[in-house]
Amino acid sequence: MNITIVGTGYVGLVTGTTLAELGNTVYCVDIDAKKVEAMKQGIVPIYEPGLEEMFSRNIQAQRLFFTTELKEALEKSEVIYLALPTPPGEDGSADLSYVLSVADQIGTLLTDYKVIVNKSTVPVGTADRVTASISAKTKVPFDVVSNPEFLREGFAVEDSMNPARVIVGSESERAKEVMGKIYQPFTNIGIPIIFMDEKSSELTKYAANSFLAVKITFMNEIANYCEKVGADVDKVRLGMGSDDRIGHRFLFPGIGYGGSCFPKDVKALIRSGKQENFDFQILEATESVNQTQKVILVSEIEKYFGGNLQGKKIALWGLAFKANTDDVREASSLDNIKLLLEKGAEIIAYDAIAEGNVKKILGDKISYASEMYAALEDADCLLIATEWSEFKNPNFELMAKKMKNKAIFDGRNMFPLEQIEDSGFFYKSIGRKTLR
Ligand code: UDX
Repeated sequence: MNITIVGTGYVGLVTGTTLAELGNTVYCVDIDAKKVEAMKQGIVPIYEPGLEEMFSRNIQAQRLFFTTELKEALEKSEVIYLALPTPPGEDGSADLSYVLSVADQIGTLLTDYKVIVNKSTVPVGTADRVTASISAKTKVPFDVVSNPEFLREGFAVEDSMNPARVIVGSESERAKEVMGKIYQPFTNIGIPIIFMDEKSSELTKYAANSFLAVKITFMNEIANYCEKVGADVDKVRLGMGSDDRIGHRFLFPGIGYGGSCFPKDVKALIRSGKQENFDFQILEATESVNQTQKVILVSEIEKYFGGNLQGKKIALWGLAFKANTDDVREASSLDNIKLLLEKGAEIIAYDAIAEGNVKKILGDKISYASEMYAALEDADCLLIATEWSEFKNPNFELMAKKMKNKAIFDGRNMFPLEQIEDSGFFYKSIGRKTLR
């Protein structure tokens, strides 16, 4: 099938590459001419394990093309995916201006039946609004389908080639047939495709992400309580997760959830609820608990230094919002840096992959180390904000030699307590005994 993808951000790029890999001819459209030129040369604008290889393979196979011209791509395609940004507006609600403006253009360009697929995470009712925008400009028949994306950053290729399920929101038989054909390579290997109406499909995405945010936050509160009563959250987590109604995944406590999806989607669902005079009390609590959780170790660091962080040199391992990505959107590291700087501390950070993105935001407000041990030179303590695997088994002797003071504040529970016990480090993690 010939497919156009409008928007080559994270979701658009991964979706386009996957659809090409499945044998379709895909035209990726973006208004950023520089980016389009770079992609034509095989340069992937985002960091994602395994993507570059799949990307180059499909460009070479002449299944993946890039252009700034929507008209040209649209004429060649039967299906148009919208993968446009829906950033939170000031009140937290999703800003649909990009989506609706492209819908408007599509309306002026349609010459024959097309299926328009909403891939972006959009509030309930958006399929209706996109339909209205296009209808206002054309009499040509078309259908708008909701087809939310569930891929995780860092696992995008894996998730997009082997999704847990495909959700298609449409009540048009013609559109359902087209979508069924596109996803046939998945259904053939037993991946379920779940058809439903547009609104239920749109809500499924928010409900799934918000549920996971609640799950993590619940565990963070259990972890904080473990510390009060002397329980160990690792044990509680294993005990709980063994019930398959709960499951082991997304029960890892830490310094809060971040990224481009959970914070935005939780906010947007709260906001959508308010528009219907509906209070998502559980989500409001989740948001506020998460905000506190992100910087929970700052007060511990402060306590450790007798309330005064002025001039303290703090090494920070990890800047990305989670491992295996360069993304720092809503990353806990940024909240910690902000607060620590306000309190007069100095920060020297190490993150080989995400450093560039933090530099764009913070410039030289903090220093950057070129490798993990270099960040520890003369440090008063170490704070770990991202669970990069290179931090998992460090040389504690070397660390002790480099640091002025042997103290680790671990926001990601990187080490089993036994691993640290004899190292002589002060070690504070989340929901477990503090080692002194
Ligand atoms: C998420 C969803 O998983 C994905 O389905 C959706 O399409 C987009 O949003 P992503 O933002 O890539 O994906 O990150 P994810 O791996 O889900 O982690 C989100 C945040 O939760 C991270 O900050 C992570 O560190 C945190 N997290 C995750 C925990 O604190 N504990 C856990 O057990 C799991």
